[in-house]
Amino acid sequence: MLARISRTLLLFLLTFAFLAAPFAPTQSQAATTASAHALIRQPVRAEHGMVASAERIASQVGIDVLKRGGNAVDAAIATAFALAVTYPSAGNLGGGGFMMIRLRDGRTTAIDYREMAPSAATRNIFQDEKGNLIQGEGSSLIGYRAAGVPGTVAGMELAFKKYGSGKLSWAELIEPARKLAAEGFPIYGYLARNLVKKKDQFAPYEDSRKIFLNDGKFYQEGEVLRQPELAATLRRLQKNGAREFYEGETARLIAADMKQHNGLITMEDLRGYVAKERVPVRTTYRGYEVITMPPSSSGGVILIEMLNILEGYNLHEMGWSSADRYHLMAEAMRRAYADRAEYLGDADFANVPVAGLIDKNYAARQRSTINMTHASTSAEVRAGHPVGAESSETTHFSIVDAEGNAVANTYTLNESFGSKVVAKGTGFLLNDEMDDFAAKPGTPNYYGLIQGERNAVAPHKRPLSAMTPTFVLRKDGTLWFAIGSPGGSTIINTVLQVITNIIDYEMNIQQAIDAPRIHHQWMPDELAYEPYGLSTDTLHLLEARGHKVYVRPNAGWTTGEGYMGNAQGIMLEEKTGTRLGASDPRGDGAAIGY
Ligand code: DON
Repeated sequence: MLARISRTLLLFLLTFAFLAAPFAPTQSQAATTASAHALIRQPVRAEHGMVASAERIASQVGIDVLKRGGNAVDAAIATAFALAVTYPSAGNLGGGGFMMIRLRDGRTTAIDYREMAPSAATRNIFQDEKGNLIQGEGSSLIGYRAAGVPGTVAGMELAFKKYGSGKLSWAELIEPARKLAAEGFPIYGYLARNLVKKKDQFAPYEDSRKIFLNDGKFYQEGEVLRQPELAATLRRLQKNGAREFYEGETARLIAADMKQHNGLITMEDLRGYVAKERVPVRTTYRGYEVITMPPSSSGGVILIEMLNILEGYNLHEMGWSSADRYHLMAEAMRRAYADRAEYLGDADFANVPVAGLIDKNYAARQRSTINMTHASTSAEVRAGHPVGAESSETTHFSIVDAEGNAVANTYTLNESFGSKVVAKGTGFLLNDEMDDFAAKPGTPNYYGLIQGERNAVAPHKRPLSAMTPTFVLRKDGTLWFAIGSPGGSTIINTVLQVITNIIDYEMNIQQAIDAPRIHHQWMPDELAYEPYGLSTDTLHLLEARGHKVYVRPNAGWTTGEGYMGNAQGIMLEEKTGTRLGASDPRGDGAAIGY
């Protein structure tokens, strides 16, 4: 009885503390605001392996591979191919991405399979003769010219050859996807709605219209989507290996369709595509090692810069929902994204001062420019001066296998359904990743990101990404959690907030993903928050400090109106090693374990 009363009292106090948090944050409130989220959901628990992805069938495909003795890398390859069938807005063969791998012995690597610009893609290709950005067909966003040379198949092959278990063949890993394409799967609500939303954009492209609009008849939720051309492409990949995509029949189909429609990608471009293994970037945050993606993604470098800045403050004591925390987060984001605009690009082409940007002394200098009571303006916050600087609908999945090998993989077509073009006869969509370049340096791209010369278009260059697949280790050096998200420019901030929710506020992985997010990207100078994500009182406190706060309307690249990202994470429970899987409530995904 006493226990029940005190539990009721505790619940009352917790609720009160949560509601009152913005007014007077104290140390005990920091704990209680975190606890308030504990009332939401527990992660999915499993003893051996876990796959958290944005689509349930694809998660199950990964689990089946693990059960058959495949390792996390094998499961990642099978999941990636399955998502290309069941999650066509972002899962892909015609796009690219980044895979972080951490083997059970502690070796960690990063596979960069980002698209490359075709050789005919020169600096001003997306500008008209007056220097204005081209709109519609011919632009960096829609149609044939928007596509970079896809990297996904090469990336999967590199991962398979170097890090696969060898227990399952390449063809076996592709088979579940081929079967799903050939036999079909029931269209789920999100996909049905999303396809209708894009009808006008698909309409000009014959194969896209046929496959994704059912020739104008549209699909109802529950109807079976069969993709015979895609099944045939997957069959060729099974038989002939990844080179089929870059030199075989698939390459010929892409190049022929490109030629006919004034596109840029040639057979030679396809033959020249290379996935690259890179050295991950690392930092420690309050003693925990963070290992993440280097360029050609900006994700890891900018994440680390923000973590390094925030490490100098006691976020825990401020309280999760305090105006102080939001203020600091926004100021760290503002500074790091200003650096992104200036310094980041494909490091194979531009001088990117990675070491300077992730240096803790640089973060200390950045910190000294932050005023606790006044927001900076983005106009006055220009890029900082890191050492070494010279002038001048994505989807994530995380996998952990029974041995403790882990994969964090984010890949994409860029916008939902990419360029909207299915290359004739291939059955798959091509990306519109060329828009991630600065099509006109200094002018915002689709995500409103201003980007600089280092990210200007050039032949064979990789457009700058924000994708941030990341591992965080425990202080004893073992894997703690894997995390990543889609969301365009918001990706890095989503990963940042999940990490700090866990480390500073002791949230479990599911709570940390569920908790409302904010976003600042330097320009435009606004602090965005999710619907219902910020109390009105806190909003006023932030405005009083000079922040331009705004509730996001439908952002267009997330699954929910105005929400940010669709994170998928897996944590290993301390002592037991139980796999804790968490899929973002902002999407339709699933963490499945065994
Ligand atoms: O690489 C990037 O940063 C973007 N192409 C990601 C696009 C994205 O996240 C869209 N999905 N929600």
